[in-house]
Amino acid sequence: MNILNLIKERRNIKKFKTDPIEQERIYTWLEAASMAPNHRMTEPWEIYYVGNETRVKLNHKTNFGNAPILIAILSRHGATKVETEENAAATACFIQNFNLAAWAEGAGTFWSSIGITPKNRSILGVPDNYDLIGVLGVGYPEVIPDPKPRTPIKNKIHFLP
Ligand SMILES: Cc1cc2nc3c(=O)[nH]c(=O)nc-3n(C[C@H](O)[C@H](O)[C@H](O)COP(=O)(O)O)c2cc1C
Repeated sequence: MNILNLIKERRNIKKFKTDPIEQERIYTWLEAASMAPNHRMTEPWEIYYVGNETRVKLNHKTNFGNAPILIAILSRHGATKVETEENAAATACFIQNFNLAAWAEGAGTFWSSIGITPKNRSILGVPDNYDLIGVLGVGYPEVIPDPKPRTPIKNKIHFLP
């Protein structure tokens, strides 16, 4: 698929098929995700596979759209506030790479920020020196939502003197 179409057609998925998703395919997407830009090659991301015992404790309203796989993506703090922010930015790039790699192969993700509360951080066992950037349901979409309209980009472009 053309890269522009891939980017434009990706959606956050809220309802998944029950079909399992092959572990090797997920590893392939994670490998591709790890080519994300990251300052000073900090590679700040860590991936937690969330098993059912932990997943039920998160008590998500829709159980992440019944996604067959749930992963949490963590970002390590840096030595300074700036480094921590840069690491979080790099990890967001990692997640979007993963989203697009999955989408290119007919799969999708439900990006949830459920894990950011202290209670859910604790359920997921996130160490103090990590941010939790997203909890992702991963699977084959049952429903692909319509695109959500965006502000025309020209309204967001600013030319400095
Ligand atoms: C940092 C971040 C956190 C998000 N958290 C949630 C969430 O908790 N629940 C949810 O339904 N969607 C969440 N989303 C997905 C957005 O709602 C979704 O991307 C947005 O509605 C646009 O839809 P689209 O991705 O299909 O274009 C999150 C996205 C980001 C980048």
